[in-house]
Amino acid sequence: MNFVVTIDGTAASGKSTTAIGVAERLGLFYIDSGAMYRGVALAVLRAGIDITDRHAIANLARKLKFDFKIEDGKVRVFMNGEDISNIIRGSEISELSSVIATYPEVRKVLVAMQRELTKRGNTICEGRDMGTVVFPDAAIKIYMDASLEERARRRLRDLHRKGEKVTLEEIITSLRQRDERDKTRKHSPLKPAPDAIHIDTTNLTIDAMRR
Ligand code: C5P
Repeated sequence: MNFVVTIDGTAASGKSTTAIGVAERLGLFYIDSGAMYRGVALAVLRAGIDITDRHAIANLARKLKFDFKIEDGKVRVFMNGEDISNIIRGSEISELSSVIATYPEVRKVLVAMQRELTKRGNTICEGRDMGTVVFPDAAIKIYMDASLEERARRRLRDLHRKGEKVTLEEIITSLRQRDERDKTRKHSPLKPAPDAIHIDTTNLTIDAMRR
């Protein structure tokens, strides 16, 4: 069994920045499970599937293959060979991914893929249920959080850099809704694993998170 490190936590709490930095430094494989839920959301939009049709969405998810490549501190996400890194980061996909993530049929498909991906070698993975459900025996488990306002400011900077016109208030509303949905859903809700190390990143800089 390979060595697995998990980072779970709220949206925009610093999981990706930390996981990518650690993966680069220690030469670990990297899995962004949130990008997989986002990828399924993108495929659903493209296929025009009804977002309440959980069986059709799970069937569609089964046909997808994900891969992650880290280059110069940035991750590229591939879905069936297509680079979807940028198109999955918009607000519509954020919202849709958190809705389809409530469907156990879809989670089952992605969880099997996540476990399969760790067979390649030692891996760091980030998400909401990595330490609680997908890899309960992970060697190191981290749970990250930060204040809603700080997370919204970080997300605003990211989205503005990508040219999306959105206000701080809109992001606060969307993050709050997404956190609420992620924490209260019946299947694999976001919560710290009992053996997770808690890190509050509200007052941490990117450099401090990478150290
Ligand atoms: O991490 P990110 O914000 O990109 O994830 C998008 C959505 O995917 C989350 O809001 C959450 O609903 C879902 N997700 C999940 N389980 C994971 C990772 C992400 O339910 N392990």
